Amino acid sequence: MSKNERTELNNESSGIQIETVSFGTPHEDVQRFLAKNRLISIDLQLTPIERESIQNLVISENIGDFEYRGSADDLNLPSVLGTYLKRIGDNSEEVVRNVTSLMVRFAEGSARFFDTKLIWIESRSFTPNNYFETPRWHTDAKFFNPYEPYKTVVALKGRQTRFGVTTDPDRFIELSALENKEKHGSEEDLKIREQLDEITIEIGTPHEENGAVFLVGGNNAIIHTEPRIDTQRLFFSVIAGPKEEMDEWYNRMDKKRSRKKLETKSKSQ
Ligand SMILES: [Fe+2]
Repeated sequence: MSKNERTELNNESSGIQIETVSFGTPHEDVQRFLAKNRLISIDLQLTPIERESIQNLVISENIGDFEYRGSADDLNLPSVLGTYLKRIGDNSEEVVRNVTSLMVRFAEGSARFFDTKLIWIESRSFTPNNYFETPRWHTDAKFFNPYEPYKTVVALKGRQTRFGVTTDPDRFIELSALENKEKHGSEEDLKIREQLDEITIEIGTPHEENGAVFLVGGNNAIIHTEPRIDTQRLFFSVIAGPKEEMDEWYNRMDKKRSRKKLETKSKSQ
């Protein structure tokens, strides 16, 4: 069976027909598609120069903490992103310039989808690893409740995020709660992940280069997992929304971080 046939089959069983948009698609249309399926695909319309720079981009460091909070039209954003791209590997000025402008285009486009300028960018770089040979199907719902924001994501390099639906929502919630308690990658964790995989049907996405927008909060948050990371990978995500929601998540994130810092400190004492 070809990949396309398999994708169609899966999308029949998942009942989700994914629409594809571009950053030029009017915001009303994007919102209409999202209201229908909670998940859409984005054709980034990469230029040949962008594609070449992505190919030449070197990722030799695993950086998990890149974050930017501010406005999509902040004049400092390109230099912040450029500094990050130099941290992840020995990248030429040309590669940094082209990938930075693609990231800015992505951030501005994601903000436009939600008729705002306020964005929260998170990015992670990965060297090849075996952490997700067994998928980690989960939702991000807990963090964002009671709000229902969407996240715009893309792997600028490497495999894209995988999406799915579960055949047994109650069991999925039960298993997710257990999985959250286990150490990532431990034997018990992998056992639970396998059980989650058994009750999840993957939703095929239209093109391997495409990004996606998906619901991350509320009861209907979309299930997803990191893909296999068997090549260098650069993950880039944007949440765009109204100020009061963004402020609340920032607050929660900062609290979570300082709690973690305290825990580490008390453990090392
Ligand atoms: Fe997630």
